[in-house]
Amino acid sequence: MSSYLITGGAGFIGSNLTDLLLEAPTNTITIVDDLSMGSQDNIPDSDRVTFFEHSITDHAFMQALLRENQFDYIVLLAAVASVADSVERPYETHLVNQEANLNIIETLRTAHLPFKKLFFASSAAVYGERPELPKREDMAVQPLTQYAVDKYATERAIINYARLYDMPMVCARFFNVYGPKQNPASPYSGVLSIVMDRLASGKPFTFFGDGEQTRDFVFVGDVVNAIRGLLQTPAAKADVFNIANGKQTTLNQVVAQLEQLTGQTLNASHEAARAGDIRDSYADASKIDQFEFMHHTPLAEGLAKYVASIA
Ligand code: NAD
Ligand code: UD1
Repeated sequence: MSSYLITGGAGFIGSNLTDLLLEAPTNTITIVDDLSMGSQDNIPDSDRVTFFEHSITDHAFMQALLRENQFDYIVLLAAVASVADSVERPYETHLVNQEANLNIIETLRTAHLPFKKLFFASSAAVYGERPELPKREDMAVQPLTQYAVDKYATERAIINYARLYDMPMVCARFFNVYGPKQNPASPYSGVLSIVMDRLASGKPFTFFGDGEQTRDFVFVGDVVNAIRGLLQTPAAKADVFNIANGKQTTLNQVVAQLEQLTGQTLNASHEAARAGDIRDSYADASKIDQFEFMHHTPLAEGLAKYVASIA
């Protein structure tokens, strides 16, 4: 029987993780989410789930929550997940993406609160525009946006707290996650959720750039399985792991696959590339592959599951 706190648990990855954790019949889950991107519909109707519609930037609220409850596992997923949004609103996104997380780990430290493992979701965005591919965890980073700076700063803070104060904490850099429950509602949503939405509705889709930018698209089921694995592996501590498929795919290629799977044609036009956008990204996943729990769903299989989940 384990108790989990998941910030951002009403969002895309958080709700997939909640579903996975609830498969174990005695797990209990507390979710804090302000529903800025997540949805109440993503939260299962279960007496083992407690939901607080609240912002993690309310430091006093988060301190009280941590002090008054005992969580075995803490999963920090709440964030303004859009790189482009952080270019528009760097200070506001910083308050969520970095300061709120620092408040959480500082509360755990100063109050000497016991827990088994804390997980933080960092991002491939930290690698930035350096030319070396594939990206390895020990490479130099070059964060290009406030989003990437905040992810890197939080990741380093967590690794340093883990080392300096002997706290069981681990980070992962997710590459481009796709799959069921990704919210397409914002212009800043993950690109494949927007593509799926536009294929279904026939509404126009804009490529920012020529569509030849590359990403490492990783299926959400593999990501939540890896989060659970890292939480349950004591040796994974004070460290950071790429979570990716380890394959480089252009946006044009993945759009063509989705057109084929859905039998629809995207009503597409092109605009200039977004400021702060990374041209090429894919991972060396060998560090996380040392653990048997890591699974790599092939892109074609993951896209087919995604399409089937919406149809
Ligand atoms: P998401 O937007 O679906 O989930 C984030 C959740 O955080 C949302 O439910 C949102 O409502 C919530 N949230 C935002 N601000 C909040 C606040 N102030 N207080 C409380 N809740 C707040 O995004 P996601 O794709 O599920 O991302 C989860 C995490 O993984 C984020 O930290 C994101 O940066 C990181 N990440 C995602 C990807 C990806 O490709 N999706 C890749 C790398 C890293
Ligand atoms: C995504 C994640 C970010 C994560 C990063 C890790 C989201 C919203 N963003 O950022 O949290 O840290 O991966 O690699 O989940 N594009 C279009 N048209 C659109 C939307 C996007 O052409 O309508 C392009 C973008 O310009 C970009 C690519 O598609 O070149 C991917 O965009 P996006 O899904 O926003 O992902 P990242 O910026 O890579």
